[in-house]
Amino acid sequence: MITTERLELRRFQPEDAAAFSAYRSVPEVARFQSWNAPFSPEEAQRTVARFAEGDPLQPGWFQYAIALDGQLIGDIGLNTFDNLMQADIGYTLAPEYQGKGYATEAVGGLLDQLFTVRELHRVSAEVDARNVASARLLERLGFQQEGFRPQNTWFKDEWTDDLLFGLLQSNWRSARSAG
Ligand SMILES: CC(C)(COP(=O)(O)OP(=O)(O)OC[C@H]1O[C@@H](n2cnc3c(N)ncnc32)[C@H](O)[C@@H]1OP(=O)(O)O)[C@@H](O)C(=O)NCCC(=O)NCCS
Repeated sequence: MITTERLELRRFQPEDAAAFSAYRSVPEVARFQSWNAPFSPEEAQRTVARFAEGDPLQPGWFQYAIALDGQLIGDIGLNTFDNLMQADIGYTLAPEYQGKGYATEAVGGLLDQLFTVRELHRVSAEVDARNVASARLLERLGFQQEGFRPQNTWFKDEWTDDLLFGLLQSNWRSARSAG
């Protein structure tokens, strides 16, 4: 669906379930995410089957598989608004593939498509304020921090602070043309 220098963003397929279960079962990967580790193979199969049916061009969530040489290494969730002009994103990489620029490349490839092909106006992301790697990724891609909401979310038995990030098409285009 989307190809970058080293990666492919594609639809999930049944063969991805084992790798998906493995990285979702790592406690550090699950720490700021909606699920709890471990993430069983059966749950992974059900989730992968649901992801495989989505349509990224329709409003609502679509989950892209991030593949390196065909192998699943992570995923990106895209939530397109009903107006088809805005979206939220979320992302995950298997730990052994972190620290190599793959998330920047994959999310950057998706943003390119969203802003230059689909002509979206704005993309947003919400991050747990303790999730430094995620905030750094967004800033690297040009997102602006637009808000801080203290104790905004009751999450895994505690109140947590949220950072709000946003990126406008105009900022993406000017950052791209500036190299
Ligand atoms: C958020 C997450 C995807 C970020 O992953 P990441 O590995 O930090 O991001 P990238 O893959 O873009 O890698 C960037 C790092 O690789 C380094 N790097 C190495 N080779 C590189 C290359 N060829 N190109 C670019 N960067 C490279 C960069 O310097 C950077 O390191 P730094 O952050 O120490 O400066 C990852 O931490 C994750 O999956 N976390 C668990 C799930 C989660 O919490 N998701 C977010 C929910 S909001």
